[in-house]
Order: sequence, then C-alpha cells, then structure tokens
Amino acid sequence: MGVFSSQPEQPQVMTTSPVKPKVIIVGAGIFGLSTAYYLAEDGYNITIFDQHAYDSGDGYKLNPGSTAASVDENKIFRASYGDELHYQRLAYEAREIWKKWSAELGDGKELFVESGMLRVQHSTQLDALECQTLANMKAEGLRDTQYVLTNEEDVRRATKNGWAHKLLKFAIPDGKDVTFEAVLDSTAGYVYPSKACAYLADKLRKKGAEFIEGPDKGVFVSFQVEGSGPSRRITGIVTKDGNEHFADLVIMACGSATPMLVPEVSRVLEATAGSVITIHLPPREEAPQLWDKYSQEQWPVIIGHDPDPEGRTVGSRSIYSFPRTEDGLIKIGYRVTKYTNYVKLPEFSRPISVPLRPGLDDTSIPLKSIEGIKTFVSTFLPDLAALPVAVTRLCFYTDSVDNSFLIDYLPDYNDSLFICTGGSGHGAKFTPILGKHVRDVVQKKPKTDLTYRWRWRPELPLGNGLEEGPDGPRTLDKQKRASPEDLKRAGW
Ligand SMILES: Cc1cc2nc3c(=O)[nH]c(=O)nc-3n(C[C@H](O)[C@H](O)[C@H](O)COP(=O)(O)OP(=O)(O)OC[C@H]3O[C@@H](n4cnc5c(N)ncnc54)[C@H](O)[C@@H]3O)c2cc1C
Ligand SMILES: *[C@@H]1O[C@H](CO)[C@@H](O)[C@H](O)[C@H]1NC(C)=O
Ligand SMILES: *[C@@H]1O[C@H](CO)[C@@H](O)[C@H](O)[C@H]1NC(C)=O
Repeated sequence: MGVFSSQPEQPQVMTTSPVKPKVIIVGAGIFGLSTAYYLAEDGYNITIFDQHAYDSGDGYKLNPGSTAASVDENKIFRASYGDELHYQRLAYEAREIWKKWSAELGDGKELFVESGMLRVQHSTQLDALECQTLANMKAEGLRDTQYVLTNEEDVRRATKNGWAHKLLKFAIPDGKDVTFEAVLDSTAGYVYPSKACAYLADKLRKKGAEFIEGPDKGVFVSFQVEGSGPSRRITGIVTKDGNEHFADLVIMACGSATPMLVPEVSRVLEATAGSVITIHLPPREEAPQLWDKYSQEQWPVIIGHDPDPEGRTVGSRSIYSFPRTEDGLIKIGYRVTKYTNYVKLPEFSRPISVPLRPGLDDTSIPLKSIEGIKTFVSTFLPDLAALPVAVTRLCFYTDSVDNSFLIDYLPDYNDSLFICTGGSGHGAKFTPILGKHVRDVVQKKPKTDLTYRWRWRPELPLGNGLEEGPDGPRTLDKQKRASPEDLKRAGW
C-alpha cells in the first residue's frame, strides 16, 4: 500500500448498485488498460476499443506503422523526480507491483529489469535537479540506493553491493581529462511496455472484459449524445463500421489522438514526437565482448544531455540509451526537442497537433535529432559509433500544459465523459498503479495530492511548450529530415 492509502475510505459510489455500470474505454494503451484493470477488479462491465488489432496476429509487437507510445520494446523506470515527491512515491508504489507481476510470470518473462540507471550530469558538478532528487531520496530513507560517482563513501558502498561496474566514468569531450559527474540509481531500470499491455489485456479477458479492435470495428468515430443543456449526456460511441455502442460512461484514453477526438481538450494537450533509433550489434559470435558489455547485467540505462554546437549544454537529461535487448538491439531516445505536427482539421477553428499517419506521412526523423544522438553515441557509446542506425521511429507523446496527466470527467456532460491521458513522456513506469488512482477519480473519491494534479484544469496558462503553437520552431514541417546517408553511422 502506498502513501495515499491513508486517505479515509469513502463509500464507493458506483459499486453499490447490483448492476455494474457499463463502461466503454477507447484506447488499449497503458492508460486505457491500467484503468480497465482496476475498474474490472471492482466489477464494472468493460468494453475496450482500439484502432489497432492488438488482439490478433502480432499483438503489441512494435511495427513501423505504430505511433502509440505504449507499443515499444522498453521504457525507463525511474523514481528520481527532483522535488516532485508525489511522483517519486507513486513510482515506488508501482515498482512493488512490477516486481510482483514479474515474479508471477517467472523466469525470462519478467516485465521489469533492475539494470540501474546512470544519471549523467552536465559537468563535473551535481545540478540543481539532482540535488533535489538526492534530498528527496534521503528524506524517504532511500539515499543508500543512490551512488554518486565522486563520493568516496558511495563508491565504497557500490563496490560492496555489486554496483561499481555500472558507476561509469565518461570523459567530458575536450574537457582536458575531466569526467562528467554521475549518479547511479540502483532502484531504476526499465520496463517492457508492450509485454505489460499484453499481460493486462490477457488478465482483462479472463475477467470478462470485451475487446473490439482493428480497423473499422475498433475505430472511434463519434460520440452518441443525448439531451441538451445541463442534462446533455454521452450515451455511447459510433465506430467506423457504423455500429453504435452504448454505455453509462465513456472513457477516452487515446493518447496523442485524444485532442483531435475530443475538441474540448485540444487547448490543454498536444501531440508531440520523440525521436527514437535503434542500433544493431554485430552478430553475437562476431562481437561477443559487445554483447556482454551492453547486457543488462553489465550496463545501466544511461540518461545524458545534448551539448549544443557552441559547447554549452542545453536541455536536461534529454537523450537516453538502454542496455541491449535479447536480439542485440540498443535503443536510443532523443527528447531535446519534441516535434509538433500541426494540421488544419475541418472540425477545428485553429490548427491542432496530431500524430503522424504511418504510410501516409513522412515518418523519418529530423536531422537535428540524429545529430544530437551522434554526439551522445560518440560520448557514451563509442563502440557503436561506426555501426549504422537500424531503425528510426517518431513516437508520440501526449503533453499537458504542466507535464502532469489529465484524468477527470469533462464538465457539461453530466459525468458521462471521462478523459484519461496526458502521459507527457513519463506514464509507462506507472502502468501497474495508474488505474487504481483513475478508479478513485471515476468513483469521485476526494481528490488526493495526485488526483488533484490530474484534474480538469483549463484555467492553467499554457506551458510545457504548448504556448508555441503552430508558429513555433518545433513543427515537423520546419525540420530538415535525416537522409539514409545520415544514418550510415550512429556516431560522429
Ligand atoms: C518517445 C517516448 C518515450 C517515452 N519514454 C518513457 C519512459 O522512458 N518512461 C516512462 O515511464 N514513460 C515514457 N513515455 C511515456 C509513456 O510511453 C506514455 O505515457 C504512455 O505510453 C501513454 O499511454 P496512452 O495509453 O495514454 O497512449 P498510447 O500508447 O498512445 O495509446 C493510445 C491508444 O489509443 C488508440 N487510438 C487512438 N485513436 C483511436 C481511435 N480513433 N479509435 C480507437 N483507438 C484509437 C491508439 O491506437 C492507441 O493504442 C514515453 C513516451 C514517448 C512517446
Ligand atoms: C456486460 O454487459 C453486456 C450487456 O450490455 C452483457 O452481455 C455481458 O455479459 C456483460 N459482461 C459482464 C462481464 O458482466
Ligand atoms: C444526470 O444523470 C443522472 C443519471 O446518471 C440523472 O439522474 C440526472 O437527472 C442527470 N442530470 C440532469 C441535470 O439531467
């Protein structure tokens, strides 16, 4: 049980009726599935829709056509959140469940890998964010789990606890033999989001939840609306095949597509693209030492930054890499710039940013991203610099005005329409716990420290980049894209 379990238990508004409310959830990503999981636990009658046929063929396996953030090989698990103690606690609450689920699944099928994560600093000093993280870890009695590279006592403890080999020293380029300060978090690592989605979908099916997925039958097209004024209600949805589906409550968990499907949220949420590449190690028999070096046992997640061309450092913790996968792939993510894709849609009076349509739009990554990644590879993964980039991908975030999720009823629909998204690039780690808090909001329990942050909050000024809009510098149409030539070498 987490810190919020001290909230007094309220009578559960919706569970007292003998007939469970019928709930439609649109979106079978992390937000939709975690919500469904906890609602199903309370006996709600759930139908989940998705435009992708995750229930057939390759399931949640990553394919080049996928823009869903939850469909991915790996995502970082971290609890280091600067001064945001509420997210630190939520991450540790989630971590217990990740471990429990992994144990349940057994050897080789785990969903969570405790590889550790090295937070490389900008310079030889700890930055302000890092100092806040360490202070909050200390406040919660967890300072022991963190190892500062230049702290002798920490290095001794790392050696004793078997973490010293991951407390890596990286030379600052042209820094005259000095190394970046770094902090190794032994509680961090990564999770398998696609596997976690498949795991939850399986559990949900066993609990009797229905899945309607695939092009046409799973695609949300419109709401069914009844009444007007204060009694206006959403009574269900219409899918692309023309079928009508009815429910007491519709939950929209469509990730980066939510703003174009629910115009009311288009001011406060923005679809933005992160750039992701993978590098293939040479076959194991040709390079056994690289396979060993970059394994999860030997190598941590590394999160660093993007030195700008003038040699100053910009952005914070904005490029990251994972240990190799079982197939010898190393993934690197770039979020120094999150690109927008503004289009004019007929139903909207102003342009909104939407996810790319694979097969229809140019999904190549901007040259700027590949240049940042090359600097990162040359600095932190120099063994890989001569290898080609195997795959590139633009993966869509759903950014909110303040980087916190958006989980609440939408006003003016008499509690029949609920929004559950706004992952803002950090939702995956919370997969096992998110829905528990979503359920509290669905059941109108008093707001907690967390659910208050996730409330419908149109009054907030635009921030987190949303203030830039279509005229800002981050739109994809203003970016030069990387050519195949640019991808021939992952470094220099
Ligand atoms: C590049 C990148 C890196 C990230 N890294 C991390 C990380 O390291 N750690 C971490 O914790 N988090 C990370 N995140 C965040 C995390 O991945 C997201 O918070 C989370 O996956 C969002 O899940 P979701 O369910 O809201 O959205 P999605 O995964 O996008 O799911 C939305 C679903 O809605 C469906 N849908 C859309 N439109 C329709 C329609 N009309 N009809 C039917 N279905 C529809 C889509 O097909 C999709 O399956 C990252 C995100 C990105 C983009
Ligand atoms: C959910 O409701 C439908 C009718 O709307 C019913 O056919 C189905 O059996 C119910 N499922 C569960 C798990 O209660
Ligand atoms: C809102 O919906 C409830 C049923 O869920 C109904 O009892 C109530 O009268 C509705 N409110 C208005 C203003 O129509």
